[in-house]
Amino acid sequence: MQGRRILLIIAGGIAAYKSLDLIRRLRERGTEVRCVLTTAGARFVTPLAVASLSGSKVFTNLFSLTDEAEMGHIRLSREADLVVVAPATADLMAKLAHGLADDLASTTLLATNQRVLLAPAMNPQMWAHPATERNVARLRADGIAFVGPNPGDMACGEVGLGRMAEPQEILAAIEALLTPAARPLAGVHALVTSGPTIEAIDPVRFIANRSSGKQGHAIATALAAAGAEVTLVRGPVHEPDPADVTVVKVESAEQMLEACRAALPAQVAVCAAAVADWKVAAPFGQKVKKQPGAAPPTLALAENPDILQALSRPGAARPRLVIGFAAETEDVVANARRKLTAKGCDWIVANDVSREQGTFGGVHNTVQLIRADAEPEAWPRMSKAEVAARLVAAIVAQLRGAPAVAA
Ligand code: CTP
Repeated sequence: MQGRRILLIIAGGIAAYKSLDLIRRLRERGTEVRCVLTTAGARFVTPLAVASLSGSKVFTNLFSLTDEAEMGHIRLSREADLVVVAPATADLMAKLAHGLADDLASTTLLATNQRVLLAPAMNPQMWAHPATERNVARLRADGIAFVGPNPGDMACGEVGLGRMAEPQEILAAIEALLTPAARPLAGVHALVTSGPTIEAIDPVRFIANRSSGKQGHAIATALAAAGAEVTLVRGPVHEPDPADVTVVKVESAEQMLEACRAALPAQVAVCAAAVADWKVAAPFGQKVKKQPGAAPPTLALAENPDILQALSRPGAARPRLVIGFAAETEDVVANARRKLTAKGCDWIVANDVSREQGTFGGVHNTVQLIRADAEPEAWPRMSKAEVAARLVAAIVAQLRGAPAVAA
């Protein structure tokens, strides 16, 4: 931490007082701290307090000509080793998720080429609002790191998830991001499949499924954040491409298999795609026309290649760790174990897709990690980004040869 430079953006929230403590702790470790205080932030802590603790000028206004002459927002955002926003309000996160830049804080966040860490603080209803959930998912996909929020009593009298992480937790997150150990998968090539495949009936019609690609994309994002070189082979999805990942766009299962083979060698493969089990045996070359009075055409199906099974096949090209998913609505563990044995993979993330779980298209997932040689590990319902982070932690432990510890 000695000699590292942090740009701390303090947005408007009662938790801003904790940021003063964060500044003090950072400076105690020899870290240089520059601060941007938003207009709302300045209603909770004074520029004088922030300047005194940080030992440097506080930046408050985008259009201050003197500051622009001395140091523009672009330099301000790039001279830091890390940009930290604490507290990060719902409003500032929404701006960042949408690329809005109408004040110094949001402009700085958009202009930076450094990593960004957000410490959200807001009312629990605001944190749980679908709009905030969407923005958080977007930001995570953009490679933005988060610490907190924590559960507890809120200043507004409510109880729930929304308290800003404590200064020592934010400090630990900063240290983790600034040290090479935060990239434990550096040098590892990871292959991820995601989304559905679509199988052509004719040039305009196809067979598809409801996979959104959210879980696979979150895994690709988390692997990249852990330092892996990631190839994401994905079927047609609306999910944006994750940052710092090589994306290969495919449509059919056969194209997906070909792209996966071309991406090898890889040390890790995670097959999160919902690959169509069948394709149309003989797709029509031209659009099938409705013939008045004629019976509807019948479709003969043929089996698709199984990509997970193909990647799991023993041989020199087999990744060290091959992980599949199993979408189950009943007997989750038994079915997943059967799948693990049948396909020859090392782990299965068994996914409860019964309708009440809202897994398809939703941001949450309820999974169990099934390993050939261990008891199943049931994880609580959590966001797909959290499932991804936990899975990556297990992958790191496995590649290091240590038993993966449940977080
Ligand atoms: N898979 C694959 N290629 C296929 C089919 C499946 O790579 N042609 C992978 C998926 O990416 C996933 C796992 O295999 O990792 C799921 O296996 P699958 O047998 O399709 O199971 P479910 O989707 O759970 O469906 P079912 O229960 O009908 O077998």
